[in-house]
Amino acid sequence: MTKLAAQQVRYTDRSAVERAVKKLRDFPPLVTSGEVEHLREMVASAQRGERFWLQGGDCAESLDDCRPEPIANKLKILLQMSLVLVHGMKKPVIRVGRFAGQYAKPRSKPMETRDGVELPSYFGDLVNRMPFTPEDREPNPHLMVRGYQHAAVTLNFIRSLIDGGFADLHHPVQWDLGFLDHAGLRPEMRQQYRTMATELANALTFMEALGDKSVDEMGRVDFFTSHEALNLLYESAQTRSVPRREGYYNLTTHFPWIGERTRALDGAHIEYCRGIRNPVGVKIGPKTTPEELVATIDALNPSNEAGKLVLITRLGADHAASAAPRLIEAVQKAGKTVLWTSDPMHGNTRSTRDGTKTRSFEHILKELEAVIDAHERAGTHLGGVHFELTGEDVTECTGGATGLADDGLGENYQSPCDPRLNYAQALEMAFVLANRMG
Ligand code: PEP
Ligand code: CO
Repeated sequence: MTKLAAQQVRYTDRSAVERAVKKLRDFPPLVTSGEVEHLREMVASAQRGERFWLQGGDCAESLDDCRPEPIANKLKILLQMSLVLVHGMKKPVIRVGRFAGQYAKPRSKPMETRDGVELPSYFGDLVNRMPFTPEDREPNPHLMVRGYQHAAVTLNFIRSLIDGGFADLHHPVQWDLGFLDHAGLRPEMRQQYRTMATELANALTFMEALGDKSVDEMGRVDFFTSHEALNLLYESAQTRSVPRREGYYNLTTHFPWIGERTRALDGAHIEYCRGIRNPVGVKIGPKTTPEELVATIDALNPSNEAGKLVLITRLGADHAASAAPRLIEAVQKAGKTVLWTSDPMHGNTRSTRDGTKTRSFEHILKELEAVIDAHERAGTHLGGVHFELTGEDVTECTGGATGLADDGLGENYQSPCDPRLNYAQALEMAFVLANRMG
């Protein structure tokens, strides 16, 4: 690797790094090249406006949260949101979880100081641990192996749930609607959701009665995994060629993305992501110039292939209305094939008076609306959304129908990193979005 890699970890024990990388390289892959190629086709179809992209999950997964309930709940909220979106937008939804490997975090400061003590910042469970002790904060190469193993366990459970009919659209009654009852949802929303689930079930039954062969396919739910491709040691270890296919695949995930802090044009993350067959995402912040955006697209996808590139704008509610139109125009003028998605979370983080990181439902929605408007005016389309969310009843973001305010955030704040929409807020967001885009 000759390019400069931003945000890379400084391990002190070289031989431990080599042992960890060898172990990773020798493991079987988490995903297959066939699945990656399938996702490429899905991305291409979303680029043509035939599908909508829904990506979501924790800011940072933690090894301790590799337990059945949080995983099932995350799957459930994404599935329920997708059901709402399918119903409202009348098109299939591509479901992409920020999970099974979302363990590495970029940080704005490499060191953290508390009471005069300075230690490395927490870079996610793939790198070091959260407790503020010298042992925990020391980057540990073996955590890459543990992260991979936990990603495998997570993905195994997700695949089993799906194979076992957890997400079979033919049987929405099995979606455990009781879950809706204790989640602080408004009654109208609960009713709207129930009606929608019944309508979808009836539509499937009707089509089956007509003998439509494609129904089976429609009823089956696909799920893809994604994570930020931050730690290039980890990403490269499972990057390989596959018999009877051309090119290289990152087989730790279907969809790696490049973060806002690591997308330097001459940097290693761009160089890595352009070289793999996986579709890739790139975060685009409010200061990105139109020229820089087009150059980034050219670097990642020089032959302008369909299905390769997903742009994830994260502009902030106050900048979206001015930034989005010029970015859209530049890409349109340059004739680039991309999927436009919006991450309305990362430009809208603020601290409360007592220093708690939060985001408001209203700011998140404001950014989404500004981006949707910009696309409508340009004659393009917003092809997807990217949320930090959880299926749990946490109190990390304010607003929405739950009316959570700053002073209520302490009740059940769990995220080690960025604040996530909770179950009710996420589902409400899907309803608002479906109504706005339907
Ligand atoms: C993230 O997605 O958690 C993240 C760090 O985002 P960004 O790179 O857009 O800041
Ligand atoms: Co985040």
